[in-house]
Amino acid sequence: MIDFFRSTRREFMKSGALAAAGAGLMLPHDGNAGADALDPSTLVPFVDPLPVPRVMKPAGIRPDPEQTGRQIPYYRMRMHEVRQKVHRDLPPTRMWSFEDSFPGPTIEVKSGEGAIVEWANELPLRHFLPIDHTLHGAERSLPEVRSVIHLHGGRTPAASDGYPEEWVVPGKSQRCFYPAKQDAALLFYHDHTMGINRLNIYAGMLGLFIVRDAQEAALHLPSGKYEVPLLIADRLLGKDGQLVYPVSEHPDRPWVPEVFGNAILVNGKLLPYLDVEPRRYRLRVMNGSNGRFYRLSFENKHEMHVIGNDQGLLSAPVAVKRVPLAPAERIDLVVDFAAMAGTHVKLVSDSFDIMDFRVAAKGSEDTSVLPAVLRAPLRLDPATAVRTRRLTLDERMDDIQRSMGMLLNNTPWHAPITEKATLGTTEIWEMVNLTDDSHPIHLHLVRLQILDRRRFDQFEYQAKGTLRFTGPAQQPEAHEAGWKDTVGSDPGMVTRIVVPFEGYAGRYVWHCHILEHEDNEMMRPYEVLPALHS
Ligand code: C2O
Ligand code: CU
Ligand code: CU
Repeated sequence: MIDFFRSTRREFMKSGALAAAGAGLMLPHDGNAGADALDPSTLVPFVDPLPVPRVMKPAGIRPDPEQTGRQIPYYRMRMHEVRQKVHRDLPPTRMWSFEDSFPGPTIEVKSGEGAIVEWANELPLRHFLPIDHTLHGAERSLPEVRSVIHLHGGRTPAASDGYPEEWVVPGKSQRCFYPAKQDAALLFYHDHTMGINRLNIYAGMLGLFIVRDAQEAALHLPSGKYEVPLLIADRLLGKDGQLVYPVSEHPDRPWVPEVFGNAILVNGKLLPYLDVEPRRYRLRVMNGSNGRFYRLSFENKHEMHVIGNDQGLLSAPVAVKRVPLAPAERIDLVVDFAAMAGTHVKLVSDSFDIMDFRVAAKGSEDTSVLPAVLRAPLRLDPATAVRTRRLTLDERMDDIQRSMGMLLNNTPWHAPITEKATLGTTEIWEMVNLTDDSHPIHLHLVRLQILDRRRFDQFEYQAKGTLRFTGPAQQPEAHEAGWKDTVGSDPGMVTRIVVPFEGYAGRYVWHCHILEHEDNEMMRPYEVLPALHS
């Protein structure tokens, strides 16, 4: 889909210029990184082994809150400040994370069994990144350090979903119940605090959460040490190895519309390597960046098979040489290193090196399978939708055409709820992008499918409010044809999604997953109303 590439290329040009500049970073609203920014090209690449976040052990069991009489796993996850080496030759970086490292430990649950997680805020009382007190929900009257954790992609009751205003302060904890009545998928947990979510996540507050099920296990995909999660997240590092969060030129309004780092971290390391055997691997990749889009490929254009994305398996593997990944999207890849025995191959994103795979000359026998069929094909019939909502993505400009932030449907967060869906029904949401950026739009609770994307006349829409298409409807790319929870919505396009509202009634949110946008009004509450009983 050419338009997506065009918009991501726009992001790349901005970020590429930034990385190339090294010292003397040029940021939109030039930040305080300045001459003190690290130039990653001065570091020796591929000297640190890729860390794999440990799988968290339950602290015990607790009665199932759904009163089935069963006992389910109980976890306690402490948030606190950590110091972490992101590269052999850099001093430890101050971060905020879960337990002992960034990313936090991985939680693994069985579909339908679920887990209870107690999120304990043991963070310091002062924030170390620049809070913008003019943003809604980050006023000076509020405590600086707050947290509320959301499980992204989880089919979770509203009380446990991490509503942005239901934050707690250091010393307090929140107990969440994740029933995980959903298909096997790679989810992730992260902070969602109103007005400072971009800073908390940038500080390191995210980790992976894997739902497993029997259907997936029966496929005999590469597993155990041959299944490797890759959480990719860029950060802007100073020469001292410390996180820099850029600020605007207004000391009272430090918010910036987007942040691109000079260092792309994989599982918390800059330019790591992974020793692999010449066989198939399953790479479960997630984009944990605040705003950077990637286009992943092997440097030698080696083929990879996409077997799943945000909400689990595709119906069949899709062979690709390169795959785009917007913030919060996940992609599940099977890569066969057999043909590269005894060599090295780099994973790159356009001209950026991400990591190096060192393929051994020999390995153990590969008994894993890349099945031709992964699950029954399922395309939702748009005719089942009970209504279609037209929703705009808007940019607000100040008098000198600087971005003041983005909005959903021109409506700020605190306005009354306008999107109310009924549990058990399906809706079509048409996202009309009137901005110059691609926005990864995410809905909590649900899984959804992309119906199509279509170019339209932006000027006519803005002038008269009429929607006139100027191109044919484009089907989603094969690799994004499955169940998703985050959808790239490109500039000048109408992106249509089909959303079955399944799971639980209650109040949820939808938002752009570029975190700077989300924190500055590009987020709205929505409500799922209880099903009507006949
Ligand atoms: Cu990653 Cu509101 O979510
Ligand atoms: Cu979410
Ligand atoms: Cu956005």
